Amino acid sequence: MAILLSGRGSNMLALVEATKSGVLKGLAEVVVVFSNKPDAFGLEAAAALGCPVAALPSQGRKREAFDTEAAQLLQQYQPDLVVLAGYMRILSSAFIQPFAGRILNIHPADTHQHQGLHAYEWAFENQLPETKITVHLVDEGLDTGPILAQQAVDLRGADTLAEVERRGLAVEHALYAQALADLIQNKQAVMSSKKTSC
Ligand code: GAR
Repeated sequence: MAILLSGRGSNMLALVEATKSGVLKGLAEVVVVFSNKPDAFGLEAAAALGCPVAALPSQGRKREAFDTEAAQLLQQYQPDLVVLAGYMRILSSAFIQPFAGRILNIHPADTHQHQGLHAYEWAFENQLPETKITVHLVDEGLDTGPILAQQAVDLRGADTLAEVERRGLAVEHALYAQALADLIQNKQAVMSSKKTSC
């Protein structure tokens, strides 16, 4: 898988860890960690772990042109899956088409209730008793793709935004790795059932 990020990279770290000693061990490996922000902390962290890294600055670029170039760059690594982990860009079809059906995203809310940025702020400001972390396939809409996994986070008593985020991220890190493991295992099962049927 290729992991894409724009900032801190805590989901990336959790996924790399899961490939080494968690639910993704033997199922997935990271072929590249990519960022549209060359100075993203997550990129530095990935390099320190020995992951292949690549960056292409998006600042000042037109969306389609940047996405075409980013997709071409990623295709050189031949990822089966493109895993968005805090990749803060709306993707155009120039990026989505080459990887159609193979791009995943994690969103810190139920995508039926909240789309786009600042989902933890939204939950905190509205004093929601819970939020639902969502892993979904990416299509051409904003957080509109089919949902693969969801898990509720209890936010009762979380009286700071930092506490809301802390509880949410703990769930994100486990849920993303498990959703990927389930997806890969399902794909493998479909492929092996096809093999034995002819
Ligand atoms: C995570 O909370 C992720 O769900 C969110 O950005 C954060 C990235 O943190 N993504 C979105 O809001 C996408 N709409 P990380 O860099 O520490 O993984």
